[in-house]
Amino acid sequence: MNRKPIFAANWKMNKGAVETEDFVKSFLSKIQGQNFAAEIVIAPPFIALPKLADLLHTATAVQNAHAIQIGAQNCSEYDSGAYTGEISVLMLREFFVHYVILGHSERRSIFGETDASINAKLKKAREANLKPIFCIGETLAEREGGKLESVLRTQVTEGLKDISEKDLAETVIAYEPVWAIGTGVTATSQQAQDAHAFVRSLIAELYGADAAGKIRIQYGGSVKPGNAAELMACPDIDGALIGGAALEPQSFLDIIRNGTVQAQ
Ligand code: PGA
Repeated sequence: MNRKPIFAANWKMNKGAVETEDFVKSFLSKIQGQNFAAEIVIAPPFIALPKLADLLHTATAVQNAHAIQIGAQNCSEYDSGAYTGEISVLMLREFFVHYVILGHSERRSIFGETDASINAKLKKAREANLKPIFCIGETLAEREGGKLESVLRTQVTEGLKDISEKDLAETVIAYEPVWAIGTGVTATSQQAQDAHAFVRSLIAELYGADAAGKIRIQYGGSVKPGNAAELMACPDIDGALIGGAALEPQSFLDIIRNGTVQAQ
């Protein structure tokens, strides 16, 4: 199955507009003249989206700008109104946002997001034609307690509840074991492959083999230039969602480069 790998930088609460501009200019100059058989996404904090849109989509956009897609790190499940602090999908569309990260484990554990609220956001994102990067993953206690598969099953089934096959086709899943996020501990390629294969089998159960074969499943959790090749060589891993190692242009680029060669 020919699935185009997707490498997405999740900057979390790092980089405002000034640092975003520095990063993007440096990154674009580094990829000048190169073509990657991969999609590249940058998801900065909301406040830096106008700058990113300006850099990548205005008449004066720098060369190679088309190589990068814009992502957001969250969206509201509501359209508009009295929701202090929220950002709607239509507001994101104004800044050429294509992807939106939903259900990240930090959103789940620190901000109390549930499978139901993530499902509502997924639907709202699809209404505005945004492509969700739908994050799932188990904690260490859940893995050690033998609950890996039941946790993933619940997250996938509840998160994708009433999502049509057409909308699933525009969705990317990110498998991120919580114990590997920001810890420097990466899942072994075997652990990652096993979890990805299981998630793909869940998609086959819910949507059929064709949809399962087409959906892209990224790995996330301490991906670095040094482990990208091995992880991306796994048959069910189709790219990466990268936090810490995507804060520096050369490191993000090295991950894409090392990972893309392997994913061919
Ligand atoms: P990390 O974060 O690469 O810093 O582990 C990944 C993520 O949270 O998406």
